[in-house]
Amino acid sequence: MLKAMRGKPNEVWQLDELLDACEWKDQAHVAGAGGTLFESELVIQTEQRSKIWRLASEGDNAAKNGLLEQRIWNWLSEQEGDVGMQDLQKANVVEKREAGAGIGLLKDLGIQLLKGQFEIPSATGAIEATLKMRSEFISNLAAAGEEGAPESELNISQIDYFAKRKGIITSSEEVIRTWQLTPKGISVNVDDLQERLLVADITPELLQGDDWRDADFKPYDVTREAPTPMIGKSHPMQALIERIRAIFLEMGFTEIEGDYVTTAGWNMDALFIPQDHPAREMQDTFYLDNPESIPIPRERTNQWAQVHESGGNTGSSGWGGEFSSDIAEKGMLRTHTTVNTVKHVADNPNSPCRVFGIGRVFRKESIDKTHLPEFHQIEGIIMEPNASLPMLVTTVKEFYAKMGYPEVRVRPAYFPYTEPSLEVEVKWRGEWLELGGAGIFRPEVTEPLGAKWPVCAWGMGLERLAMLVFELDDIRQLYVSDLEWLSNQPVL
Ligand code: PHE
Repeated sequence: MLKAMRGKPNEVWQLDELLDACEWKDQAHVAGAGGTLFESELVIQTEQRSKIWRLASEGDNAAKNGLLEQRIWNWLSEQEGDVGMQDLQKANVVEKREAGAGIGLLKDLGIQLLKGQFEIPSATGAIEATLKMRSEFISNLAAAGEEGAPESELNISQIDYFAKRKGIITSSEEVIRTWQLTPKGISVNVDDLQERLLVADITPELLQGDDWRDADFKPYDVTREAPTPMIGKSHPMQALIERIRAIFLEMGFTEIEGDYVTTAGWNMDALFIPQDHPAREMQDTFYLDNPESIPIPRERTNQWAQVHESGGNTGSSGWGGEFSSDIAEKGMLRTHTTVNTVKHVADNPNSPCRVFGIGRVFRKESIDKTHLPEFHQIEGIIMEPNASLPMLVTTVKEFYAKMGYPEVRVRPAYFPYTEPSLEVEVKWRGEWLELGGAGIFRPEVTEPLGAKWPVCAWGMGLERLAMLVFELDDIRQLYVSDLEWLSNQPVL
């Protein structure tokens, strides 16, 4: 390349000219050789970055079949009399999944949908003009093909518009370089230059011969841009669960599991939640028709009855009133994973333990940015002679520190089944976010189960934590199967 450039020592060379002059076909040769000459101060190299736009998959569709709004508009313009949504669906102009988005696009253009009928404004010039501009933009980009078109040659307002629509256009950065000899490059004695093999790929063929013995090997440049491999991998939530599991196992905990279907008795009575507590009512709990009830041994419900009615032997005065074993036997979907830990204590009251579980829970919640009716909790207990509040706080803090959130604080809170009770908050982007509850099980919980030692317990929301880890402001993103988002998630 240096020899070729010396043919016109004062020239500012572009890529194509150098390809010609060197009789190369691959632009990577120019970039590679140019880079090396630049590092040896034999050439100066300028770089200009520019943004290149191309059609994405929906854009290709639009180029082939017309933009969604254009197709609906064409159909609308051919209709006589009133037509509505149902006619559109019958006409097969758009696919079912596109209909909603199509109507939204028409509304933005000023076409109303009143009582299911389309209302077109009397003057349609502006609509036609807008559609024409959009369609032209799409065909221009379609003509640019795989190579794409630089932003400077495109209509910027159309770019702004289409960039907000999903899957129509995508961009990448491209670097345009030029090369020019430096005085040092100009004064090199061309006759002294030797050609040497520079090996970039070590192949079996190369190793069979002897050329490599005298060759130079090209170093890897880890700063170069490279395509992101799109590989199969775990769903981000599954990957997060695996990471949490690994942390608790590493901290010496054993994993426990439980069923989604449980009884009000284990979900609530065992936890000393009063039977007339508002959270028991239909709005929070999914009670089941089948099984409507699940039998619980009388000895068990009697223990709960004593504690609830009068405190039993715990020194507590209980909630008063009359305990109903029918209520306790009601079948339901667990509303928290605390059923698993309390059952574990009931099954192993005399064995000290450190256990955790990650499981799905169900609550009658309306879906919004921060709520789902099905979500997961991370739950754990430490039961041993010296279990204490500081031990509980340290454990929870250590878990979050290992997750990458070293700033954790606890605040007083209330749960019917713990005393003292804590709320756990984690600092994220300068704000304290509530991620879970914790506390020491009350005697009203542990005594009927025959447990002698203090039980430190905590439960936290997995999706809330996932929102921090994946930097989301909408919890629904985790479950909408957005392929683009999924493939761009880092491997945890
Ligand atoms: N079960 C509580 C919840 O669902 C969390 C919790 C677990 C609180 C254990 C205290 C002890 O929010």
